[in-house]
Amino acid sequence: MKLGFACIAALLATLSTISTIALAQQPIVIKFSHVTASDTPKGQAAEYFKLLAEKNTKGRVRVDLFPNSQLYKDKEELEALHLGSVQMLAPSLSKFGPMGVKEFELFELPYLFSSYEDVHKITDGPIGAQLLKKLEPNGILGLGYWDNGFRQMTANKAIHVPADFRGLKLRIVSAKITDAYTRAWGANPQVMAFSEVYQAMQTGVVDGGENALSNIWTQRFYEVQKFLTLSDHGYLGYAVIVNKKFWDGLPADIRAILTDAVNKATERNNQIARRDNETALEAIRKSGKTQIITLTPQEKAEWKKVVMPVHKQMEDRIGRELLQSTYKTIDFKSQ
Ligand code: LMR
Repeated sequence: MKLGFACIAALLATLSTISTIALAQQPIVIKFSHVTASDTPKGQAAEYFKLLAEKNTKGRVRVDLFPNSQLYKDKEELEALHLGSVQMLAPSLSKFGPMGVKEFELFELPYLFSSYEDVHKITDGPIGAQLLKKLEPNGILGLGYWDNGFRQMTANKAIHVPADFRGLKLRIVSAKITDAYTRAWGANPQVMAFSEVYQAMQTGVVDGGENALSNIWTQRFYEVQKFLTLSDHGYLGYAVIVNKKFWDGLPADIRAILTDAVNKATERNNQIARRDNETALEAIRKSGKTQIITLTPQEKAEWKKVVMPVHKQMEDRIGRELLQSTYKTIDFKSQ
């Protein structure tokens, strides 16, 4: 009898050890959601992060990627991060203004940046770091910035000069500054989630929209837009963010490996963004489905002149000091 009890006790102890080991071996799962296709700069950088994170933690971390708005779209993503339903995102910088961190609207200003080099003077410098810090009271930790490219205009009408915008319904992201400059051109801004744009363009709910070439290509907007004007009128980039509570709760060695993986993915992203947008333009051109318009310097100057007052109008929202130090850092000229 005694022996029987001893056997059962030993068996239970063994089972509990096995389940403890099994639990200890469960990987930490990072759900990483984003809205663009896998073959965009953001999609590829997310895949590279997954590869490094899983390899370098020797499987202690598993990264589940959900591209193409599979799980969430637009602002739902940020709510999901807040609730802990996902741990990592790379939303466009335009998403933080509506969340209450208005300083991020800096990145939406038309014609602020004229090159990736200018952008990096901000994102890789003290201003970029200071902006990411402003996300922390919202339970968000910013790990870095990922480029996409410059915004171009697509429409079912040839747009050469601001007068051509009159009355056009243009899909925009939900951002005050974008709303202001599209109105300044004479268009009618329509806020819409990225995942709904193709259909809205196809059915005529909107006449046009603005995006980086890699998105115009991978979302096939060029199939349902007769014209693409190379306007380079704004910057589209992302912040790689995590739920701060989740991040702070990770073992320190894991956090260090993941930080390194994000940094390497950032480097990879920013190397491929420029190339991917150039390749996308060539692919769109070859498709023959949309007519590509290159603006003359005079036309470009007109586009710019009409929207430049938006900088001044939005100065109070963004913060005068931040705007002035940005101008200084990138040696910005309004002409
Ligand atoms: C858009 O909504 O147009 C883009 O910002 C989507 C993205 O993440 O590139």
